[in-house]
Amino acid sequence: MTKRAGITGIGFHVPEKVLTNHDLEKMIDTSDEWIRTRTGIAERHIAEKGTGTSDLSVKAAQAALQNAGIRPEAVDLLIMATTTPDMLLPSTACFLQEKIGATNAVCFDLAAACAGFVYALVTAEQFVKNGTYKTVLVVGADLISSFIDWTDRATCVLFGDGAGAVVVQEVERGGILASVLGSDGRYAELLKICAGGSRFPASAETVKSKSHTLQMSGSEVFKLAVRGMSDAVTEALAKAGVGPEEVACLIPHQANQRIIDAVAGRLKFPKEKVFVNLQKYGNTSAASCVIALYEAVQEGRIKKKDKVVMATFGSGLVWGAVVMEW
Ligand code: UT7
Repeated sequence: MTKRAGITGIGFHVPEKVLTNHDLEKMIDTSDEWIRTRTGIAERHIAEKGTGTSDLSVKAAQAALQNAGIRPEAVDLLIMATTTPDMLLPSTACFLQEKIGATNAVCFDLAAACAGFVYALVTAEQFVKNGTYKTVLVVGADLISSFIDWTDRATCVLFGDGAGAVVVQEVERGGILASVLGSDGRYAELLKICAGGSRFPASAETVKSKSHTLQMSGSEVFKLAVRGMSDAVTEALAKAGVGPEEVACLIPHQANQRIIDAVAGRLKFPKEKVFVNLQKYGNTSAASCVIALYEAVQEGRIKKKDKVVMATFGSGLVWGAVVMEW
């Protein structure tokens, strides 16, 4: 019989320091009112200088392992979804391996920006289903504050730092029922951090032109995000043979309340079924869906045997949806 993979443990961590909209009002020409009405965000958590994405991920990973009742040595694969790595090399997964003592794990990073967690979850599922690995630690984490131009009001109000982690193992019932992933490199330039890679290595010029910080064509990304996420959910539900009315909770990528409302509207999902926590964290990129999943479970919005759909979208452009039975 084909194996099924599912989430057997979950955890998350955000840095202590909170940056509110009112704090941002003192830094740039913006207002709490603009940020709330255009995005839904009220505050976000920002890591202290000198923190790395692997540091941010330690508590999330340990919480997920504890929740699953797994010792770090039992992890045989560690996938780190991030596009804000500690360094260009080695992988952030290797740094995290050492910090949590996952001594027997094969480790690699996966770059799919805000869609990273869903991409990594689906990758983990394949390894568990084909029997290559039994216990996979999937981490979605981004320390995006290190790559933000704090004078650019169009981007700096949107993001926050965070990490989330799950343990993926074989399950007897439920688990991941179906998934859809998609990519379209025609839109690669819409959301990017240009410098610091092979094409534009760091130089005095790249620093001067702020090319090491995130640039985004917000309104184009907005439209593509709405279509990408809603189409992915529809396709994944059809693949799983699950009707929209059977879904207890939709966990959308937490980028903008208006994007979430538009996705829910296209899918005709009632508000009560859509989980939102972006007011507290902003867009935490690869951590966004996993933090939302954790809190939805904690708040009793997802119960055992419930059908859940997660939908995500990010730079690439990339998108994905996963249908699960909790
Ligand atoms: O994780 C996936 C990637 N990211 C996303 O999903 C984000 C997608 N995009 C968005 O969420 C929205 O496009 C934004 C929130 C980024 C922007 O909202 P918008 O409704 O598309 O606003 P806009 O960019 O069209 O700007 C409207 C106005 C502009 O002023 P003018 O030209 O009309 O005078 C901006 O300069 O709002 C101004 N503006 C601001 N005003 C106050 C832009 N940012 C701010 C700000 N505070 N922080």
